[in-house]
Amino acid sequence: MREIIKVKITVQKTDTVSFKTDLLCVGCFADDKKLDSVLRQLDGKLSGAIQQVLKLGDFKGKEKSHSLIYGSGKTGAKRIMLIGLGDRKKLTLDTIRTAASYAANQAVNLKTKNIALALHQTIGNEIDVTDTGQVVAEGVYFGSYRYDEFLGDSENGRIELLNAAIIDDNLASVNKLKQGSAIGAIIGNAQNIARTIANRPANTMYPEIVAQEAKKIASKTKNLSCTVFNYNQLKKKKMGGLIAVGQGSSHKPCMAILRYKPKQSKIKGTVGLIGKALCFDSGGISIKPSDKMDQMKMDKSGGAAVIGAMKAIADLKLPINVTAVICAAENAPGGDSYRPGDIITTYSKKTIEVLNTDAEGRIILSDGIAYAIENKCEPIIDIATLTGACMVALGLYKAGLMGNDDDLIKDLQAAAVQSGEPVWHLPSGNEYADEVKSKIADLKNIGSRYGGASTAASFLGEFAGKTKWAHLDMAGKMDPSDPLKKITTDGSIGFGVRLFVAYLMNLAKKPKR
Ligand code: BES
Ligand code: ZN
Ligand code: ZN
Repeated sequence: MREIIKVKITVQKTDTVSFKTDLLCVGCFADDKKLDSVLRQLDGKLSGAIQQVLKLGDFKGKEKSHSLIYGSGKTGAKRIMLIGLGDRKKLTLDTIRTAASYAANQAVNLKTKNIALALHQTIGNEIDVTDTGQVVAEGVYFGSYRYDEFLGDSENGRIELLNAAIIDDNLASVNKLKQGSAIGAIIGNAQNIARTIANRPANTMYPEIVAQEAKKIASKTKNLSCTVFNYNQLKKKKMGGLIAVGQGSSHKPCMAILRYKPKQSKIKGTVGLIGKALCFDSGGISIKPSDKMDQMKMDKSGGAAVIGAMKAIADLKLPINVTAVICAAENAPGGDSYRPGDIITTYSKKTIEVLNTDAEGRIILSDGIAYAIENKCEPIIDIATLTGACMVALGLYKAGLMGNDDDLIKDLQAAAVQSGEPVWHLPSGNEYADEVKSKIADLKNIGSRYGGASTAASFLGEFAGKTKWAHLDMAGKMDPSDPLKKITTDGSIGFGVRLFVAYLMNLAKKPKR
């Protein structure tokens, strides 16, 4: 089995024009009237080739576009890739992250092992240089990722290691870029770990293996520990939700708990992250149509995001206590499966009337939420590929965000903007919560035909009770939307890792509470 492409990021103080590399990536704005100094210098060496490309209109500096020019021995770089940054006045950190991802994606396609990134050099002082280093590193990891561990080696095999040098000739900038890129590399690496967990097929990544992955990561990471409740322990603890959903599969359900305890925490309590790790969602007895059912191996993306986020925050040594609860199960039809009509008693003691076995995510998360509350976590944030209805509501561009605390919603919205992992606030509670009340149990697991993302969230809200809680429905963010396909590969995008890390980094910066 081949390994996922390795990435090495360095920051080097050097001159852009003479630096020896397979591929030099330079940023270029759509609305600049004339070439800035870096492009001008390169253009001089290349006998006006850059001016020519722009004049011919072959490249306009639009976001997610490029033009490739060959150095022909006149520059240190064998190839120069102009990468569009869009309009200068619309520039954000995410533009830079996207450009770096675009560059790394192209580099892997071109099989260039050594690349130099001078994307930031055309930008000027409006954007913080440390943050720039972070997003460039995040982008390089994001764009270079490929999920091809089961693909046989071919002669034209892809690169094994991508060496990406962020280059600048100013010492002060180099130091800031070093600081930022070290953070970005940790986050980018963790995000790719989450992607691999989500991408692996259910015959190799079943609940027990998800837990094993969490254990493996914890054993290699300082201040991170892992406890796993296997099927027998779930039964002893009466975690009825996780048991019911997972009992129909020969790969039995389990719960993995990752605890990150730094020496000092900036908050008194512990943040709880809860992830849906549904290793394969066939729908169970309420079976799904076969078209695209294979995609349901990625129904563990929420759990994967939580595992990735825990790895990142531990590597970053953030001063915040965090506990992650990963609810892992396979939803399979069979003689032992739970059925429509069943009434199950969850860990919280609340009972659920099952009306559709395909609405299983909320059932397993109810036990995760109850366990987090029992362990005094607050706030708690769950993440799940929960409803097709959320995709209907928001399309594939944003995850749904619901919750019972305005400040928590605001903090997550801010983290979403920073991390470039967009969310949109949707309603929950009140009338939506009334829709999931049952006549013969405390709750039923589906509401009406309408507003399914909000009724699902409200179902979870019933288990959160008064504990500050937020819910991320990332069903639409399981794999890349069309715009993202231009900067990364198919399959999981590891949504949620950057968002959680940004949220927790901000929390660490707030005054002690
Ligand atoms: N895992 C699915 C939701 C999903 C659908 C995620 C498509 C990603 C892409 C979830 O378990 C599910 O099946 N939900 C049902 C709920 C319904 C039965 C109330 C759905 O959305 O159809
Ligand atoms: Zn389902
Ligand atoms: Zn599901």
